[in-house]
Amino acid sequence: TMDITRLNPELGYFTYDPGYGTTASCKSDITFIDGTEGILRYRGYPIEQLAERSSFLEVSYLLLYGDLPSSTELAAFERDITYHTMVHEQVNTFIGGFHYDAHPMAILSGVIASMAGFYQANLDVNDPAHRELAAKRMIAKMPTVSAAAYRHYMGWPSAYPRNSLNYAERFLHMMFSVPAEAYEVNPVAARALDLLFILHADHEQNASTSTVRLVGSTGANPYACVAAGIAALWGPAHGGANEAVLNMLNEIGDVSRVGEYVKKAKDKNDPFRLMGFGHRVYKNFDPRARIIRKACHDVLADLGQTDPLLDLAMELEKIALEDDYFVERKLYPNVDFYSGIIYKALGIPTSMFTPMFAIGRTVGWVAQWLEQAATPHRIGRPRQIYTGHSARDYVGIDERG
Ligand code: ACO
Repeated sequence: TMDITRLNPELGYFTYDPGYGTTASCKSDITFIDGTEGILRYRGYPIEQLAERSSFLEVSYLLLYGDLPSSTELAAFERDITYHTMVHEQVNTFIGGFHYDAHPMAILSGVIASMAGFYQANLDVNDPAHRELAAKRMIAKMPTVSAAAYRHYMGWPSAYPRNSLNYAERFLHMMFSVPAEAYEVNPVAARALDLLFILHADHEQNASTSTVRLVGSTGANPYACVAAGIAALWGPAHGGANEAVLNMLNEIGDVSRVGEYVKKAKDKNDPFRLMGFGHRVYKNFDPRARIIRKACHDVLADLGQTDPLLDLAMELEKIALEDDYFVERKLYPNVDFYSGIIYKALGIPTSMFTPMFAIGRTVGWVAQWLEQAATPHRIGRPRQIYTGHSARDYVGIDERG
């Protein structure tokens, strides 16, 4: 920093904060987290109450507009979202161009980015009506695109959104209905999915949301911003963890091998980490993990299923939470430690887990983008501490030895 201030005395000092652990990038009214106490609130409402009593679209309204809706407002909002669930037929053609086993997150980010090309008439980021329309379109279409990515992999014809169903039911219907068979959505499965969407809906300035805001700060269109957010979510340190947890539990395979994996996670010469453990902000139990763990038991019981992976996960949690390494570092299960077990029980394949997170988080991304767009802001432009060469002269290629 000294060099920089000497060269540019008017610039003053910079904060060096790798990973932005102590840097607030914005002010926001949307989501409150207290990582020490394990508290999460959307617009002031505790996540536990919303999980128990609300629905995903009601929570979406809350995140977008700031207050819980009246029944008339909720009905109008649900009608709007339902109205926008279809995708342009050429979107299906676009998806058809992907290799059959392309990861659905690749399809999701590509397709959402492409929507800027489908909705060019409503892309004025300075027009609040255009912004709101884009927000609703993405909340409405994310499940349609996600299910279409799965059907592409399966080789099934596309399924149109059935608008007599609610948000979670409609997604399950698009995922699993095949023309040859009658498919009835299981209400227990739909409610479980709705709950998971609520729990993933927003989480203040996490990596993908910060990405959405940073891209948005340039004035880019909202589809481009959310496509970038999807890309950030894909990584195993973020949304990709839910897929990684299930792969890890499968690899461990048996309760007797849990100790071995805990040991491996503690070994600093081994890059392996316990997936689904630890969080940048929560240094206490992730309140979402608590809710999901209970839901895991309830859903399996209601669906009449058992899953040895749940026993394995509980044993892993127990052993890790008794271990000094995890205690000292305050590493607790996070939102995605148990979510995969529920997705699995609903028949959702592992590669679709991160898209499930994306469906729920879309409202958070667009709510944060709307908040930023409606507030005066500057382009996001971090600085650096330069650690490279000082000035040197160019040497011709023949003289380099
Ligand atoms: N297993 C083993 N050790 C861990 C784990 C883990 N899952 N997580 C953190 N640690 C250790 C680190 O090695 C480090 O130890 P050290 O101080 O001896 O070097 C210490 O705990 C602190 O870890 P950091 O990496 O500095 O913590 P950071 O806040 O940067 O990372 C993260 C948080 C990415 C979530 C991390 O805990 C992790 O990789 N977890 C596994 C992946 C995961 O579950 N991600 C999902 C996050 S939640 C979400 O997006 C929904």
